Amino acid sequence: MATVKHWLTAAALLAAAAGAHAQVNQIQVWASACANCHGTEGRAEPGNVTLAGGNKDDMTKALLSFKNGTRPATIMHQLTKGYTDEQLAQISAYFAAQKN
Ligand code: HEC
Repeated sequence: MATVKHWLTAAALLAAAAGAHAQVNQIQVWASACANCHGTEGRAEPGNVTLAGGNKDDMTKALLSFKNGTRPATIMHQLTKGYTDEQLAQISAYFAAQKN
C-alpha cells in the first residue's frame, strides 16, 4: 500500500514538472520572436537593445507603454499588441533571467 501511495506521489510530481516545463517552452517561443532584433536570448549585437539580464519590472513597464501607445516607438508598439499584458510580463521575466 505504501508503495502505491509513493508511486502516485511520484506520478503527480512528474505531471506537475511536465506542466511547468511546457509553460517555460511557451515563453521561450514568445521570446524567440524578439531574437532577430534583440539577439539570441536577448543578447544583442552592438547598436541594438540588449534585454538579457535587464530589470524585469522596467522591461514590463516599457512593453506595456509601447502597447498602450504612451511610449513612442517605430516597431515595438505593433509587436507588443500581439501579446497579453500577462504574456509581456512573462517574457520580461524570461529575459531578466538570461545571462548577459
Ligand atoms: C523588428 C525588430 C524588433 C523586434 C522583433 C523586437 N524589438 Fe524590441 N525594440 C526594437 C526597437 C527598434 C526598439 C526601440 C523602440 C522602437 O523604436 O520601437 C525596441 C525596444 C524594446 C524595448 C525597450 C528597451 C529600452 O530599454 O529602451 C524592450 C523592453 C523591447 N524592445 C523588448 C522586445 C521584446 C520582448 C520583443 C519580442 C516580443 C521585441 N522587443 C522584439 C526592435 C525590435
